Amino acid sequence: MTQTIVIFGASGDLTSRKLIPALYSLHKKKRLAPDTRIVGFARTQFSHEAWRQRLAESTAGFVGDQFDDAAWNSLASRILYFPGNVDRAEDFRTLDEFLKADEESGAARLYYLAMAPQFYETAVSHLGAAGLAVETLGPRRIVIEKPFGTDLPSAQRLNRQIHDAFAENQVYRIDHYLGKETVQNVLVLRFGNTIFEPVWNRNYVDHVEITAAESLTVGHRAGYYDTAGVLRDMLQGHLMQLLSLAAMETPVRFEAEAVRDEKVKVLRAVRPLRPENIATDTIRGQYRGYRAEPGVREDSQAATFAAVKLHIDNWRWQGVPFYLRSGKAMSCGTTQIVVQFRQPPYMLFEDGPRDGRDANRLLIQIQPAEGIQLLFQTKVPDAGMQLRMTDLSFRFRDKFAAPMPEAYERLLLDAINGDASLFTRADEVESAWSIVDPIQAAWDNGVNPPLRIYEPGLWGPVESMEWMEQQGRSWFDACPVLH
Ligand code: BG6
Repeated sequence: MTQTIVIFGASGDLTSRKLIPALYSLHKKKRLAPDTRIVGFARTQFSHEAWRQRLAESTAGFVGDQFDDAAWNSLASRILYFPGNVDRAEDFRTLDEFLKADEESGAARLYYLAMAPQFYETAVSHLGAAGLAVETLGPRRIVIEKPFGTDLPSAQRLNRQIHDAFAENQVYRIDHYLGKETVQNVLVLRFGNTIFEPVWNRNYVDHVEITAAESLTVGHRAGYYDTAGVLRDMLQGHLMQLLSLAAMETPVRFEAEAVRDEKVKVLRAVRPLRPENIATDTIRGQYRGYRAEPGVREDSQAATFAAVKLHIDNWRWQGVPFYLRSGKAMSCGTTQIVVQFRQPPYMLFEDGPRDGRDANRLLIQIQPAEGIQLLFQTKVPDAGMQLRMTDLSFRFRDKFAAPMPEAYERLLLDAINGDASLFTRADEVESAWSIVDPIQAAWDNGVNPPLRIYEPGLWGPVESMEWMEQQGRSWFDACPVLH
């Protein structure tokens, strides 16, 4: 089916860094319909040719030696530019005429909002008012980038605005973590195998740790980050997605509604933190030097590190804490899910470990050392009954020749094909906000827990390690081995 992808915010960073390179790569792999058109919409005045030229340079820069002139040229002839202002309703009407001029009946359109979030509501209402969401001539889908709101009320308002123009099944809310192969592999690990399911519950699991650590600082994004902070930036979206995939029940089918029903169910089962628990069950930190970053307020209280302990009130997970942790300026970049199993009920071997930290552990490495390790005790040869932790290790790069695609490739292709399984539904995004909002509100009130300053290049504030120690646990702090 003929497709037109209209990118609003076409002159921005996301378009040149992620969207166009992903579309180029899909085109090169012959996964786009041959007559797919890409139309950029932004205020800057460009001719079609000038925009193509700009994108050719940026795409070549991002894809490096994967860039192929012939492949690019065959895509570039179908890249068009439409100068328009999101604030002006009439620009949407002329856009519609522009698009219709070359469209066959039945052609599908994908509208991609790649602009600053404060323009989402205006863009959506103008799309609606100009009749661009009506599906009589073919499917009309809309992709909306994160952040989706800044709290529950703003997310609800945005959902209402969207639903005034688009039905929920036309809406694709992006969380790029869901486009990562290793994140999708959590579903395969759990539901494509039999051996994990019997132990994937409170009877065998002591706790689950979900960490997204970044060695990067906020860099040039302080303007956004200083008002967002780590809870909104990482926890509400990416970490909640990992939590829901790790903790959900088996969907009845692998299709969008069934998968998302289960994700929403588990998010709804997360016990909201009460004000009195926020001091004891969360740690907030800020890396030393953050306030000196360009664009950051001198007295900024924004957290660049969070550790949060959550409980899931259902039969599978009752009593099993889920620790979520994310931070900037940490020791290294690693995103991982650690399932820490319980100790054997009785340690038979005199020299065997008696600390829960030496019990079995399943380490799901989301990035950058994509893979899975299962840690278990083994007899040390020729040393009586001494035991040592060893591992079974799987690495994607050892088993599969194909490099990991960019998350945006899969997500764009799914949105083009109308598969919303890897996109966030309205109720899902709202459930995630209802978990984060009470924490953010308490943190904004600024008393408890205090903002801990941590040294860059470590694993966050020392209080975060102490907090785990007090609970008889410790974070799995290891930088992934990349070779
Ligand atoms: C973004 C956040 O959504 O995800 C960034 O806004 C963060 O702050 C990024 O750095 C992390 O994504 P990835 O794919 O590099 O893990």
